[in-house]
Amino acid sequence: MCGIVGYIGPRQAVGVLLDGLSKLEYRGYDSAGIAVNTGGAIEVRKNAGMLKVLKGELETQALNGTLGIGHTRWATHGKPNDVNAHPHATEDGQIVIIHNGIIENYLALKESLQARGHKFLSETDSEVLAHLIEEAYSGDLEAAVRTTLRQVRGAYGIVVTHAAHREIVAARTVSPLVMGVGVGEMFLASDVPALLPYTREMVFLHDGDLVVLHEGDYFISDLEGNALTREVTHIDWDAEAAEKGGFETFMLKEIYEQPQALTNTLLGRLVDETGEVELELNLDPGSFKRISIIACGTAFYAGLVGEYLIEQLARIPVEVDVASEYRYRQPLVSPDTLAIVISQSGETIDTLEALREAKKYGAKTLGVINAKGSSMTREVDDTLYIHAGPEIGVASTKAYTSMVGAMLMLALWLGRARGTLDAARGTALLKAARELPRLVEESLSEARVAQIKAVAEKYAHSRDYLFLGRGVNSPTAFEGALKLKEISYIHAEAYAAGEMKHGPIALIDETLPVVVVATDSELLEKTISNIQEVRARGGKVIAIVSDGDTDASRHADDVIRVPRTLELVSPIVNAVALQLLAYFTAEALGRDVDKPRNLAKSVTVE
Ligand code: F6R
Repeated sequence: MCGIVGYIGPRQAVGVLLDGLSKLEYRGYDSAGIAVNTGGAIEVRKNAGMLKVLKGELETQALNGTLGIGHTRWATHGKPNDVNAHPHATEDGQIVIIHNGIIENYLALKESLQARGHKFLSETDSEVLAHLIEEAYSGDLEAAVRTTLRQVRGAYGIVVTHAAHREIVAARTVSPLVMGVGVGEMFLASDVPALLPYTREMVFLHDGDLVVLHEGDYFISDLEGNALTREVTHIDWDAEAAEKGGFETFMLKEIYEQPQALTNTLLGRLVDETGEVELELNLDPGSFKRISIIACGTAFYAGLVGEYLIEQLARIPVEVDVASEYRYRQPLVSPDTLAIVISQSGETIDTLEALREAKKYGAKTLGVINAKGSSMTREVDDTLYIHAGPEIGVASTKAYTSMVGAMLMLALWLGRARGTLDAARGTALLKAARELPRLVEESLSEARVAQIKAVAEKYAHSRDYLFLGRGVNSPTAFEGALKLKEISYIHAEAYAAGEMKHGPIALIDETLPVVVVATDSELLEKTISNIQEVRARGGKVIAIVSDGDTDASRHADDVIRVPRTLELVSPIVNAVALQLLAYFTAEALGRDVDKPRNLAKSVTVE
């Protein structure tokens, strides 16, 4: 986790660093720090707490200098306190580093460094990097960093500077690092939005890359010192797109961006003339016999919807795994397997490692990914971008609906190509897909949002919540429960509706709100029976129903109406209602929606 920035150029570094870190706080926010070369010496300021604490300190004690590095931390080794905050310096203060990732062999390295007389101040794994570089340094910082990185095992995005050199040395393995190329100035960051106010020319560094930055140039090489050429990518995202744009939180803004995100995910891929789906893939749809979908968290639930859609429409056996389990369960993978990884960030380490595991056994690989140039996109055979745009809110919203949209496109494409989806059904689904951005827009109308807010406020002080759904909407229930848990901290469980009688029914009493996804479905009658089972035991039913419903709503305590659509595309519309329910519950409880406790946006540690 953690966010890192670096700057060298004519500007005052503090402004650039604080600005960049404010865009990266979603990656971690339990402490922050910067180091600035003030002319022959490096000064460090760091504090536990969010970036605003550091900002406050810098207002009273300014730092002048035009070269600096900065860090916002999500603690792995060592408590979130001032000492463990980055940057970390050598004993003489000459060399300063920031690090994102985990040094797996840090204990052995630390012990041998201590035996050689090094004094450690922090409990972090990262501090070993500073001491190793110090030992390896004999006038050439780049060479010292290279020597150090050959000794470490693990994940790192690292940025280093030395008081006596007007240069920054950085490197990455696993943890992301992007370089911004300016005119007479250079930048580094963990993610693009930190750099957008300054430059749109970016170089996405690859695993094993090391870069040396000066004001007007940069040099990229591997750890052996061999020069490398990396493409400069022009980023055309609007800087506004990475800001809150008038909404109180990034999460709310991103909920409202869903019609646009879905338009990007779906509409460019639907060919009106032929009624076909066109995906920018090299994948041969007939070249595999089974599909393995691998992801974490919200992306995993998008995978479960994908399983349902692909099996229904393309009749290919699909299994879905959480990535952290997949790696260690000796999965049955062969060259006739298509492994699909789903990820917003493209950096989640569990998913990345699971992808590598699948590749080891010869699987073909496809990434369903949001972040362009991310690690996964470089390791898969093919990428189906979801095109949701930058997602900053820690709780995933627009990326989820766009992932489901992309899985729908994939299922339709496979079904058509493999001859399992007849033209009439295919055309009906394509028509429904084309309608989705409009239906989601409609879901976000003032009246509907106000009604969901009222329901959320009514139950905001509940201790627990239960979510139920069936078929393609059973993952919707899981995703609804996850959203509520992560941003409101209310305990929530989700079950496939038919499973309720096998245990969770014992939880039901008059204090338990039960959200039932009861939109139009072939199995709606069975879901209504489940609603009645809840009511009979005093539970409070919040039914999500399709516009015009008269059946399920009759049995519910509270009703949330959503635009009617075909069952197979309804998870997208239904998810939006559950996102809003979670959002307004958290708001009613005064939670920090964009930065829920203990969470970080991109989980790059195991
Ligand atoms: C929940 C959430 C997480 C992520 C998960 C995977 O709202 O955001 O559960 O979905 O950490 O992240 P990505 O999609 O970046 O691989």
